[in-house]
Amino acid sequence: MHLSEFHLNRFLPSKFILFFVFLLLPIAAVRAAWPEPVRAQRTMVASQHELASKIGVEIMRKGGNAVDAAIAVGLALAVVYPEAGNIGGGGFMLIRFNDGTIKAIDYREMAPRAASRNMFVNEKGELIRDEGSSTVGYRASGVPGTLAGFELAFKKYGSRKISWRELVEPARILARDGYILSHRLAELLYAYRETLSKYPESNRVFLRNGKFYKEGDRFFQPELAETLRRIGLFGAAEFYKGRTARLIAADMKANGGLITLEDLEAYRPIERTPLRGTYRGYEIVTMPPPSSGGLVMLEVLNILEGFNIRELGYNSAATLHVLVESMRRAFADRAEFMADPDFADVPVGKLVDKSYADALRRTISVDKATASSKIRPGSQMITEGNETTHYTVIDAEGNVVSNTYTINDLYGSRVTIKGTGIVMNDEMDDFAARPGLPNLFGLIQGERNKIEPGKRPLSSMTPTIVLRKDGSFWFALGARGGPRIISAVLQAVINVIDHDMNIQQAIDAPRLHHQWIPDEIAYEPYGLSPDTISVLRGYGHIFASRPVYLASATGIMVGSDGVRYGAIDSRSDGKAVGY
Ligand code: DON
Repeated sequence: MHLSEFHLNRFLPSKFILFFVFLLLPIAAVRAAWPEPVRAQRTMVASQHELASKIGVEIMRKGGNAVDAAIAVGLALAVVYPEAGNIGGGGFMLIRFNDGTIKAIDYREMAPRAASRNMFVNEKGELIRDEGSSTVGYRASGVPGTLAGFELAFKKYGSRKISWRELVEPARILARDGYILSHRLAELLYAYRETLSKYPESNRVFLRNGKFYKEGDRFFQPELAETLRRIGLFGAAEFYKGRTARLIAADMKANGGLITLEDLEAYRPIERTPLRGTYRGYEIVTMPPPSSGGLVMLEVLNILEGFNIRELGYNSAATLHVLVESMRRAFADRAEFMADPDFADVPVGKLVDKSYADALRRTISVDKATASSKIRPGSQMITEGNETTHYTVIDAEGNVVSNTYTINDLYGSRVTIKGTGIVMNDEMDDFAARPGLPNLFGLIQGERNKIEPGKRPLSSMTPTIVLRKDGSFWFALGARGGPRIISAVLQAVINVIDHDMNIQQAIDAPRLHHQWIPDEIAYEPYGLSPDTISVLRGYGHIFASRPVYLASATGIMVGSDGVRYGAIDSRSDGKAVGY
């Protein structure tokens, strides 16, 4: 026996030891109220479907990098997460290589050539509803960008150890052999039966012509499998000028849609300069316009930097008040200034300038809400000089992809292109269909975001990467949920930086949302105590009539020891998988 052990045995009375054990046990056994993030040593994929996450991990096991894996995940989600995963939509991909280089790929949809400013307004000046509107039917779609974006990423930034066909193949097999429908997806298909059933191909594929799918049924998508087979063989060209392009153009023409073969052929993804800002010394890298996500988030963070959020405390009325006031101001700027930078003048530099944030902060009273009607976008500017999904991937070398893509609403325009299994987006609704009138998400948008041929609609998607103070990768995340994406990502960033939460806690923690108009705080069930609500009401804030869950995020964090942590929002399903 070692001397020290001898001493211990001899001098520590057993009661004392027992007391010690009982004191420590509960601490060791207690875990956070939120689930622990998923841990792995080398790689991680956090996506909203376990099958898709596993496919990404498999690609990395075979030697693919995070970019290869992200493409395979994106294609798989088009099959297993059909309400949002897509090849008929578009999005944004942020890539950070382990040497610190960051790339931003904009593969947002483009308005077709025949699109025009008032295409969704009737003779009375009202917005057209249902078929022919900006949200449902053939005219609601922009020219999809997903495959063009993925192919660009593959050719420029893939590992070259995996072929394009190998990336498409797992998705094709899932479509061909089917997969078991979860309770959630079966319910969701049923919930969307009214609009999906209006389009015969959607009615057949997703609603089995009225013999509705149930939980546990195997869901086959043979036409999509066949489309993916051709895409595997011929690449994105198949979608933009091959048989698939011809099928899309023909179905569009037969049903009053605008997208032509020329539109498809003219689609181009664009590499943009990533938007960079800082919050309390940490670098935040995110998506520039045509997404508003990065700009709005940085504007809010810049304003909040002047408040001691850590001291004010998580979810306190004081913190929430300054958060809402900052959101209100930044969203007012979104409405006025943000749009496709290739068509409109977007004052990016001014919007993310710290001194602009200082000026905005000075207009915030610590105990009084400013009515949204009192806020004029840009007044402090110095003039001189329902569906999306996010996933994050990290590979063994530390390369990271943060990708958000969408078909906008759940099941997009509800149109499935005949003979292809492709669900088309309704991204045209992200334009200001009539400047001044709210869109699907209640967003009011301005002239800069009016419809023009070849233009990309303003987005809220916010794929984001945050670096440690030494410049190394810390965490990456994004969300779905329209404009609520921005507030979800922003609050998760604050939760990590100001409140020391891990990535799962940061994503799960109750949050709120304010988008200037409507002038109300959207909040979550059980998210705020009645006394917090009453303090905020006392300041003059207005609350939405009932609480709803706001957005859904996924993310990855790397510990200082290199361990990968993956997190899926507890508000929705999905799974982080790694090895
Ligand atoms: O680009 C955008 O901002 C929207 N089309 C995103 C839509 C969305 O997140 C819907 N998800 N629930």
